[in-house]
Amino acid sequence: MGMTQDELKALVGRAALAHVPPGTVIGVGTGSTVNHFIDALATMREPVAGAVSSSRASTERLVARGIRVLEAGEVERLPVYVDGADEIDGRGFMIKGGGAALTREKIVADLAERFVCIADASKRAEVLGRFPLPVEVIEMALPQVARRFAAIGGQASVREGVRTDNGHPILDVRGLAITDPLALEAEINQWPGVVTVGIFARHRAHLCLLGTPEGVVTLRY
Ligand code: 5RP
Repeated sequence: MGMTQDELKALVGRAALAHVPPGTVIGVGTGSTVNHFIDALATMREPVAGAVSSSRASTERLVARGIRVLEAGEVERLPVYVDGADEIDGRGFMIKGGGAALTREKIVADLAERFVCIADASKRAEVLGRFPLPVEVIEMALPQVARRFAAIGGQASVREGVRTDNGHPILDVRGLAITDPLALEAEINQWPGVVTVGIFARHRAHLCLLGTPEGVVTLRY
């Protein structure tokens, strides 16, 4: 019998421990894959000193597992940031934000020397964009940001009933084929009202642990 998607997530969550330097403070992302990583982290024989968390949900889980959580402002750098992705391409560029935590994720990733992405094989994409691109936006700018996406071929819709940990709505943008993630990330970052775009190109993964039915495949970029 094959492994379920959740079993593949658990597999890479455990595999990520090999990239965690004991005794250090690390960055921890958000999502169902990271939840498995947090559970594994709590079982390390030589534990981490603590974690900077990218969401309230991850903070709660870390604290419940006895792992100390530090504020981002308490550290200057992290050796590693471990997080999932909604899509990852062949260069380590990602779409993130399916769990609405993209802004804090980018902030914590920015503190880290290395980004270790943990993902099941369904997340691999040739070209980013089949997964609707999440964008955190200041509410008053929603219509004009949506119009800018329409002008480049994207259909933006407000994610119903969702506010981020920062209190802002999320736009999900369908129909984009993101062939140049670095350029598009830089462009969207210039649009007034955009808090964070879910393209992680400047903050791409350095390594991806991909969960496949044949086991964990390590991809380096
Ligand atoms: C949250 C994210 C997650 O990393 C992404 O949504 C993947 O989630 P999961 O591990 O549950 O598949 O970007 O904002």
